[in-house]
Amino acid sequence: MVKSRVEEELIALQARGNNHREVLEDSYNAETLHHIAVMEWNADTEVIITDQKKNIIISSSKLDKEEKEILSKKIEPVPRNGKILENRWKSEKYISTVSPYTVNGQQKGYVFMFKSTDQVQSLISRLSHHFLVAAVITVTLLILTILFLTKSITTPLIRMKKATEKLSRGDFSVHLTDMGEDELGELSRSITILARDLKHLKEERSEFLSSISHELRTPLTYIKGYADVARQKNIEDKDRERYLDIIYEESEKLSDMIKDLFNLAKIDQNTFIIHREKVQLCSYLRGICEKMMPAFKEKGMKLEIDCSENIYVMIDPMRFKQVFLNLFDNAIKYSDPYTKINIFVKREKGDVLIEIRDEGHGIPREDLSFIFERFYRVDKSRSRDFGGTGLGLSIVKELVEAHQGRIEVKSEVGKGSTFLIWIEEMTE
Ligand SMILES: Nc1ncnc2c1ncn2[C@@H]1O[C@H](COP(=O)(O)OP(=O)(O)O)[C@@H](O)[C@H]1O
Ligand SMILES: [Mg+2]
Repeated sequence: MVKSRVEEELIALQARGNNHREVLEDSYNAETLHHIAVMEWNADTEVIITDQKKNIIISSSKLDKEEKEILSKKIEPVPRNGKILENRWKSEKYISTVSPYTVNGQQKGYVFMFKSTDQVQSLISRLSHHFLVAAVITVTLLILTILFLTKSITTPLIRMKKATEKLSRGDFSVHLTDMGEDELGELSRSITILARDLKHLKEERSEFLSSISHELRTPLTYIKGYADVARQKNIEDKDRERYLDIIYEESEKLSDMIKDLFNLAKIDQNTFIIHREKVQLCSYLRGICEKMMPAFKEKGMKLEIDCSENIYVMIDPMRFKQVFLNLFDNAIKYSDPYTKINIFVKREKGDVLIEIRDEGHGIPREDLSFIFERFYRVDKSRSRDFGGTGLGLSIVKELVEAHQGRIEVKSEVGKGSTFLIWIEEMTE
């Protein structure tokens, strides 16, 4: 900026000198000389007109030391359009140009132009001052921004890092509050949710383990007790047979439970594979009901299927059979004799809805949200008498969800229960 400003000044000074030269060459006389000097009196430039030997003919002001120095320099050769004598605005008091003038075809002398560098220098110092102020402001803003960013990004990140380290050590008491509404806030909320889920999982696992050991212990106690009695020599054969029957039944229950647990574990680990195939739902359902018929008949119960539509679904027939067997088994177990079970199959918003409705005992409202949990039984002692483990519905739910389906239950005590399953219908 300064350089181009100085260049402009030099060009202007040179032009002014050349201008005076033109006037001088037009009419070279005392009046013109005086005129030129007068013109420069009030301007911030100065003019000195000399003869060929650089003797001063006229000047617009008294010469000072620096001007004399410039004047005394050797200047030849000077081209017609003049030349710059001094351009070191930084160190010198003046910048200066010279233009030669001719009268009657003969070079008569020179027009020297001077301009003080004060102006440029004050401009520079003003500019430097501005730049300094701008720099200070920029640096301050930069520091403030860095501080702000550190506080708003780094600090939360460090907190989250500490939280995740805590999580990995197994300490789930993580609290990340007041982290704002931005992406970091979202991340912190995700971490909090993760911590809560992990905590829940851990609790669930230990609960599950204690339930298993509890559930295994009961039949084992029976088996051990009755085996002890059956071993005695002084009992009647009839009694021994009865005891052995009980032992057999309890072992059966145990093996059922272990089978269920094994199934659940497989579903949990995602190691079990679903082999889906196109299944015509109604005939498939009828086939399963057919197999269940003896169990229904035994209790004098009726089974009605309302499924006339030609509906196809993509399911694993073996796995889904388990779903229906479990639900039918419950419907029979938790209903009075001579009641009815209805199955409805209908289309609903692109899905297929399968309803299994019984007229059984129903499930109390406060238990409804838990019945899909492992080992959950509404009436522990009675359900055990029926041979229940409390695992059936949790397996049902896992299986339905493994098919991207959904299961819900509606129930009213004394009136009956309805289990609703939605799965995607296969079109085309
Ligand atoms: N159709 C039903 N009618 C009434 N209660 C039911 C029905 N199905 C399930 N339940 C209740 O839900 C509990 C859990 O069912 P489930 O997981 O199949 O275990 P269980 O081995 O006891 O059958 C049962 O113990 C029972 O109390
Ligand atoms: Mg059951």
